[in-house]
Amino acid sequence: MPTKQTAKKKSEKPKKNKSAPKEMITVLIMGKAYKVPADATIMGAIEYAGYQIKRGAGCREGFCGACATAYRLPHDYKIYTGLACTTLVQDGMWLAQLPAIPAEKPTYDINKLEPDVTAFQKIYPEIFRCVACNTCSKACPQDLEVMDYIQAAMRGNIEMVMDLSFDCLSCGMCAIRCPAEITQFNVGILAKRLYGKYLSKESKQLKKRIKEVIERKFDREFKQLMKMTKDELKKKYYERDME
Ligand code: FES
Repeated sequence: MPTKQTAKKKSEKPKKNKSAPKEMITVLIMGKAYKVPADATIMGAIEYAGYQIKRGAGCREGFCGACATAYRLPHDYKIYTGLACTTLVQDGMWLAQLPAIPAEKPTYDINKLEPDVTAFQKIYPEIFRCVACNTCSKACPQDLEVMDYIQAAMRGNIEMVMDLSFDCLSCGMCAIRCPAEITQFNVGILAKRLYGKYLSKESKQLKKRIKEVIERKFDREFKQLMKMTKDELKKKYYERDME
């Protein structure tokens, strides 16, 4: 029985749908084949296939790292990784959304750490198990030199770790693939904290802004933001002044 959407009167001339995708390809989602638009992202294709993504999605623009995905391609032995919101589908792609990966996340008091190798020895001693296989770098959807920053952490070069891990989204793909069970993205966060606390120059602008926040200078503006709709917020965001 045709559904409401597919039932058409015989006399009705089929209208040309300008938004119809030009090309369709086949992807396999959790083992089932679906035809999806060739220019879709993985996330778009999963939704096009009828799935509702309730977890494993956040910003949808490649910033938050929530949508880590593993996939394989036909006649290719490799496991590929990517962000579902920005990686485009390919014909024959075999997709599996990854559940949240529990990662080693020790708590520490930054005030009790020294900005040198001892911090890594104490908080993330597993980095010294690194076998330099470079699997972490190959798995990184941001193309970061992950192994290089772990090696820098082993030498206590905090600035280098901070620098090389700066664009990390903490999607966790490196840690999933690491045979030494290192949580590289957390090592990067520790380096950024150590750098900010002990090694970076004091920012006068930041000091001024913190003082203003403490004095509640932005409370009124904040309340206005809280009342705005999503579209109003979006508009305001894209029209903001950029330094
Ligand atoms: S949903 Fe945020 S990076 Fe993909």
